[in-house]
Amino acid sequence: MQLAPWPYPRWIAHRGAGKLAPENTLAAFRLGASHGYRMFECDAKLSSDGVPFLLHDDTLTRTTNADDALGESHSPTAGEHPWGTLARLDAGSWHSRAYAAEPLPTFEAIARYCLRNAYFLNIEIKPTAGLERRTGDLVARDAARLWQNAAVPPLLSSFDVPALEAALEAQPELPRGLLLDALWPGWLETALRLGCVAIICDHALWDPSSMAQAKRAGFRTLSYTVNDEATARRLLDLGLDGIITDRVDLFSPARL
Ligand code: G3P
Ligand code: MG
Repeated sequence: MQLAPWPYPRWIAHRGAGKLAPENTLAAFRLGASHGYRMFECDAKLSSDGVPFLLHDDTLTRTTNADDALGESHSPTAGEHPWGTLARLDAGSWHSRAYAAEPLPTFEAIARYCLRNAYFLNIEIKPTAGLERRTGDLVARDAARLWQNAAVPPLLSSFDVPALEAALEAQPELPRGLLLDALWPGWLETALRLGCVAIICDHALWDPSSMAQAKRAGFRTLSYTVNDEATARRLLDLGLDGIITDRVDLFSPARL
C-alpha cells in the first residue's frame, strides 16, 4: 500500500523532555528543544470549566503542590477544578527546586509555543473519567482553530476510543493515532473505523507480525516509551516510523 508522506520527525520527546524536567510543562518543552527535539508528546485534559490543559495523571497529587496549596478538603481530581484554580498551582517543585513555581500550562499556551517555533506536536487526549467525548471534541476543536494556518497539523492520539470518536466527528481532517497498551481484539478494525493514520504501541507489542498487520492496513507505526538503544534499534529494524522517548539526553535527533 502506498502511504501518504509522513510529515513528522521520527523522534518525539515524551511529555516535553521525559524525566529531565517537570513533565507536561513549558519548561520541559524548552529543555526538549534544547536537546534538538522538534516534536513533542503531551497529555491533555479539561478543567471543570472546559479549558484544555496539560497533565498526565487524573489527580493533581504527584505533579503539583495541590495538597499544600488547596488545603485538606480539596478534590484531588484535576478535572474537578476550574482553570482559575489550576493556574495558581506549582507544577515544578515536585521535580526539583530549579523548576519551582513552573505553572501548569494551558494546551493553547503549548500550541502557541510549538507554532512560534515550527515544532510538531502529538496531543494525547487523556480524559478525566466521564469526560471522554467532551475532551476529544474540545481538544480537536481547539487544535483545529490554533493550527488553522499551519502547514502540518498536530497528531491527536488516545487510548480512549470514545475520545477519538468525538475528535473524528468534530474535526475529521485532523490526523489521529490509536494508542495501544495491548493488542486487544479488534484493534486494527477500530483504528480503521476511527480513520486513524497511525498505531502507537507500547514498544513490547511491536514484532514482525503486528508491524506487518499495521503496515498492510496502511498505518504509520509509532512506539512509546523507548528509553534504551537496543529497543530503539530493534524497532527501527522492524520499520517503525516514530519513537516517543523520555531520553532526550541519550537520543539526539540530529545525529540519528
Ligand atoms: O502517548 C504515548 C504515551 O505518552 C502513552 O502513555 O501514560 O505516558 O501517557 P503515557
Ligand atoms: Mg502520554
